[in-house]
Amino acid sequence: YSKKEEKMIEAHEFAADFYHHLLMNTEEGEQALNYLLKRGFTKELIETNGIGWSLPTWDTLSVLLKRKGFSLEEMAECGLIIQKESDHTYFDRFRGRIMFPIRDENGKVIAFSGRIIDSVDEAKYLNSPESPIFHKSQVLFNLDKARTTIRKKRQVILMEGFMDVLAANQAGVYNAVATMGTSLTTQHITKLKRLSEQIIICYDGDNAGWEAAKRASEMLHSERLKVEIAVLPDKLDPDEYIRKYGPENFVQQILDKPHAYIAFMMMHARRNKNFQFENDVLQYIQEVLEQLVGRSSPIERDLYIKQIASETNISEEAIYAQFRKLEAN
Ligand code: CTP
Ligand code: MN
Ligand code: MN
Ligand code: MN
Ligand code: MN
Repeated sequence: YSKKEEKMIEAHEFAADFYHHLLMNTEEGEQALNYLLKRGFTKELIETNGIGWSLPTWDTLSVLLKRKGFSLEEMAECGLIIQKESDHTYFDRFRGRIMFPIRDENGKVIAFSGRIIDSVDEAKYLNSPESPIFHKSQVLFNLDKARTTIRKKRQVILMEGFMDVLAANQAGVYNAVATMGTSLTTQHITKLKRLSEQIIICYDGDNAGWEAAKRASEMLHSERLKVEIAVLPDKLDPDEYIRKYGPENFVQQILDKPHAYIAFMMMHARRNKNFQFENDVLQYIQEVLEQLVGRSSPIERDLYIKQIASETNISEEAIYAQFRKLEAN
């Protein structure tokens, strides 16, 4: 980090402490604290993550930052405050939100995500903008804390939301990370690759989660990582699942029973299809064979083609013939 960037980080650390103090020790923070406790956060988890609360006022942080001698221009550049077009004065970006510090790999606060308590019309989460210290496409939430466990277990769990990562921590799972509301990038993958060969994707069980899991696992698979997919039922996300079924169940039934890459692709292809319709059957076979071409060992091929045959009532010979045709192209 440059000198200027160091200052920006210092301001983020300062703001995180301030927000955290408001949450833990003031009447203004009480509602937010109760919200978190009701969601199953322990005080310990709130402490270790430095979660906080921003007042619903316009310039509390701006005033404090100025008093501390920070350049307001730089503070606007790193997204803590915003400059008004009209009179060039500054106001706080985060107002009346639960504040989740986002840290770099060394544990330094480089950004925030702020959640509203009761959704009105605003977006549920407001994130810091791209800045000299925060590059969304590179940051993995919790990587600073998860790193040791990832190395030790030789396994990383990739989730969709940082709330899910925090719920996993609460459940005793310490090797989970999340992207910051963006899809997985090659930069994320490079970081993960350095720590572990094995990745378990555990995204939300809704449609968006299934699609994101497909894209992410394709990328990871083609980067030659060992990727498996832990699938959640009933459109639940990890946080909701843990609250509904408990931590042990989450570990034993979900995390410890992930699907192999191709098996997941088959499940994905089978979703929303009805094998009473021949079009659905044809499409299913096509989708799975496309996954198998160039990606599977002869044994995997045999295994999965047998499976497709029994699922669809098409002969193995015909499916093999189709496979060879695709392979030739
Ligand atoms: N996200 C965002 N802005 C939104 C909604 C989501 O940036 N308006 C990002 C956040 O990084 C969030 C992730 O997408 O962590 C996953 O979104 P979602 O599943 O909707 O959030 P949850 O983690 O389930 O949050 P909660 O349980 O608090 O509703
Ligand atoms: Mn930079
Ligand atoms: Mn989601
Ligand atoms: Mn979710
Ligand atoms: Mn959730």
